Amino acid sequence: MNEHPRPPVIPDAARHDAFRGAMRSLAGAVSVITAGFGDERSGLTATSVSSLSIDPPTLIACINRNASTWPLIQRHRHFGVNVLAPHHEVVADRFAGRHGVKGAARYAGADWLELVTGAPILADAVVAIDCELEEAIDRHSHSIVIGRVRAIHAGLGDADAALIYWRGAYGAVTHHR
Ligand SMILES: Cc1cc2nc3c(=O)[nH]c(=O)nc-3n(C[C@H](O)[C@H](O)[C@H](O)COP(=O)(O)O)c2cc1C
Repeated sequence: MNEHPRPPVIPDAARHDAFRGAMRSLAGAVSVITAGFGDERSGLTATSVSSLSIDPPTLIACINRNASTWPLIQRHRHFGVNVLAPHHEVVADRFAGRHGVKGAARYAGADWLELVTGAPILADAVVAIDCELEEAIDRHSHSIVIGRVRAIHAGLGDADAALIYWRGAYGAVTHHR
């Protein structure tokens, strides 16, 4: 019989720290997820957006159920995924709740549109994707939201740079043409 060495027992707290550290090394595109209308709007900065399927066009994002945007997504059954450019760092900070700005006030200082679902769409996003909420799957602290794509807005047209977040800091990824 093969003898497999047992992995060392790691206490929960150390495992959480190790996992958080590992995730800091995963570079992520920065988006703002928006929901609601008028004064009843909020949004959050997110790196957890990923494509789910092309046919039908769907995507997922993982949203903390304590975030102020979560009840708005449930109520309005829509959300916008606004992919940010490097010049949107201030927008990313605002929607991450830094400096204490909340709700509709996070939308100040940028131009917003509506496409099909009514979710707020950032006019000069790298690209913005208007989604209807197809399903929300609660897991642990978060909900995995599945968005059915209803419209796409190529805000900056052929943008040549995107905002990323890596090891606790913003950066830019660019194409050298
Ligand atoms: C770069 C970055 C990425 C983030 N990604 C996520 C994410 O994918 N999901 C999430 O729930 N929160 C994410 N957050 C945290 C939310 O932006 C933040 O908790 C939220 O805006 C604050 O919630 P509030 O609206 O209740 O103030 C991220 C924050 C930053 C700075």
